[in-house]
Amino acid sequence: MDKFVIKGGHPLTGSIATGGSKNAALPALAAALLTAEPVILRRIPKVRDIRTMQRLLVDIGSKVEGGPESVRIETPEITSPEAPYELVKTMRASSLVLGPLAARAGRARVSLPGGCAIGARPIDLHIAGLEQLGAVIYQSHGYVEADASQGLRGATVHFDKITVTGTEDLMMAATLAEGTTILENAAREPEVADLADLLMKMGAKIEGAGTSTIRIEGVQRLGGADHTIISDRIEAGTFLIAGAITRGDLLVTECPIEHLSALIVKLQQAGAEVTQQDAATLRVRSSGALRSVDITTEEYPGFATDLQAQYMALMTQAEGIAIVTETIFENRFMHAQELARMGANIRLDGRRAFIAGPRELTGAGVIASDLRASASLVLAAMAARGETVIDRVYHIDRGYEKIEEKLARAGAQIERAD
Ligand code: EPU
Repeated sequence: MDKFVIKGGHPLTGSIATGGSKNAALPALAAALLTAEPVILRRIPKVRDIRTMQRLLVDIGSKVEGGPESVRIETPEITSPEAPYELVKTMRASSLVLGPLAARAGRARVSLPGGCAIGARPIDLHIAGLEQLGAVIYQSHGYVEADASQGLRGATVHFDKITVTGTEDLMMAATLAEGTTILENAAREPEVADLADLLMKMGAKIEGAGTSTIRIEGVQRLGGADHTIISDRIEAGTFLIAGAITRGDLLVTECPIEHLSALIVKLQQAGAEVTQQDAATLRVRSSGALRSVDITTEEYPGFATDLQAQYMALMTQAEGIAIVTETIFENRFMHAQELARMGANIRLDGRRAFIAGPRELTGAGVIASDLRASASLVLAAMAARGETVIDRVYHIDRGYEKIEEKLARAGAQIERAD
């Protein structure tokens, strides 16, 4: 199993480029199942979750060809409308094929995801929504089976709770349903809007994606498209925090600035200088003392839960007590204990973490528990005195493309080891 060996104390300088968004690319790949024609996706990040989704598409019947800059998916026929447990257990986003398969093939069999390192994460809202569109749902042997052989019909679906992939799943299903579907209390994440852009290029009729009410007029069939995925706001946000925590002077390029407002405000309040250089470049500088600033995770446009762990690492270096409140997932503080092993002073109380700082962090052996938790350990290690060894970095490879190479080019002392 790969490890990262990181020697702390080196400010990041120069520039670092953001890649395409993992969480926009995953539903885009699933959307390719809605048509027999080729879909070309550009700026697909080369990360493990994307390879997993591509493997799933191949099992389902797609031809997937990857070039250096793009991926071409062609699905003349759905040969096996199924997402098996072996894949779903490694990546919950596999459930994104449920809606497209039900809509295109009239049938889908998808493993229920089960438990997860960051919380329960059920897919009950995806299932209830599909039922409202007329699919008949059975659950047995750990699988959910959707029968939509009579065709899907448009309906008004009100989500009890805001769900990102649930919104995406239902939006995809509704593109081929008969009549109009209205999704209420929909997720407003930029990844939902990017998926709608792709679907509209394929011929779908969608209004309101990016707001909490999305209206989809079903069409008979969808065609091919050529689409460039948006930049990854979570990767860019991780780099901004890296610049601040290492007391660096860093340019983050290809940065989706408008998607990062909640983080930028908090970084500025904490004492980091964040300035816009051009339409897609932010400069982050931090030299003086950092101040503690509270955050509460929320659905977009609030502070992203996917940046909570990284921000907590930063707060270990800030003066005062910062309160980090996690409202999206019930168990997303696994990084706190590992940060504590490096010297952080963190007290957990249910969904709140109290981080008292500044504390000098020292290098230690730590274990990555999930994708974003591992990113927070990398950040802490770059700010720590001495050497940190992070075990199980396969978690970080799920969502960050060659993060060690990108950080090393900006001056970090980081190496991958067996
Ligand atoms: N939820 C339900 N029922 C459902 C669906 C969700 O109760 O049917 C609950 C979840 O348990 C959670 C909350 O609703 O408490 C929000 O979950 P959501 O469905 O929005 O999460 P997701 O779609 O499974 C996506 C991202 C996550 C990100 C969350 C929240 C993708 C592929 N994944 O997950 O990204 O944390 O939205 O923003 O888009 C990551 O990249 O590290 C990651 C975990």
